[in-house]
Amino acid sequence: MDYVGRTVLISGGAEGIGFAIAKALGLEGMNVVIGDINSDSLNAALAKLRSAGINSVGLTMDVVKADDWQRAVALATEHFGALHALINNAGVGGKPGPIENNTLADWQWCIDVNLLGVVQGMQAAVPHIKQAGGGFVVNVASMAGMIGVPYGGEYTATKLAVAGLSEAWAVELNPFNIHVAALCPAFVSTRIHLSERNRALTHGQTTKAEEVELPDPESVMSQVVTNGIDPNLVGQRVIEALNDKELYIFTHPNYRQAVQKRYAAIDAAFERAESSAIVGHLRDQAVDAFVPQ
Ligand SMILES: NC(=O)c1ccc[n+]([C@@H]2O[C@H](COP(=O)([O-])OP(=O)(O)OC[C@H]3O[C@@H](n4cnc5c(N)ncnc54)[C@H](O)[C@@H]3O)[C@@H](O)[C@H]2O)c1
Repeated sequence: MDYVGRTVLISGGAEGIGFAIAKALGLEGMNVVIGDINSDSLNAALAKLRSAGINSVGLTMDVVKADDWQRAVALATEHFGALHALINNAGVGGKPGPIENNTLADWQWCIDVNLLGVVQGMQAAVPHIKQAGGGFVVNVASMAGMIGVPYGGEYTATKLAVAGLSEAWAVELNPFNIHVAALCPAFVSTRIHLSERNRALTHGQTTKAEEVELPDPESVMSQVVTNGIDPNLVGQRVIEALNDKELYIFTHPNYRQAVQKRYAAIDAAFERAESSAIVGHLRDQAVDAFVPQ
């Protein structure tokens, strides 16, 4: 993978995983453009990147807004001459809990940021990456994009969608020399469990930012996130995996069995369909032409 002198745009790049990836790619020699909804953490992040000798600029943006994406790609191309890569990272944890506790506004917030934010990032950046002759995209999904997580319905729905879209886009963009990957970490020590802090800045939250109720630091979710791995490991792992042109980027090999269990259940379901008196006869029929073989 070529990094030196090329330009990457990273959404949600001011903190956590996004910032770690920004630093890792910057240290490889990329020009870095970070977009984030929080202007204070954006300025702090830019100061840190610049003090590490990384060519970087930033803008305050909300991934939900198409105009903000246009401003982001314009900043990248005007400042650095071209755009070669996108890290679709900005995301929120949603509102974990039983099905009936989540309002449609909760769902809308999660879908708008985690799913449609990624789609809009692709729509804004891909034409420029094509124009630059190719590059890469990393869509930040999650281990929750590999396994359905109970009490995390809307988060799982968006992350499974991002993993699936990345598979589709990897095939679609391969002829344009654009590598697409889905990053699927399990728990990483960031502020994802405090995502409600950002909701006041987007939509669905009627309370002011300073009055938003954040989860108890002793709660299970707070504990698993704060005990997660160092985001810098994720940043370095992304470089390793990009160099190997991996489609799925895993950071937690210890989750392999859990994912295998899911695939075994899917495979067993195919076996039952094959022996079904109703649909079993379709087992030898060629699959539709648009399905990647
Ligand atoms: N931390 C984990 O355990 C974990 C695990 C798997 C996947 N992820 C994914 O990693 C990505 C980054 O999350 P993180 O863990 O670093 O969380 P984080 O909350 O520490 O950082 C998220 C960053 O995105 C920004 N952001 C939030 N909403 C935004 C919006 N609408 N527009 C622009 N910027 C916005 C925030 O200001 C923040 O800088 C997310 O997509 C998340 O779902 C996190």
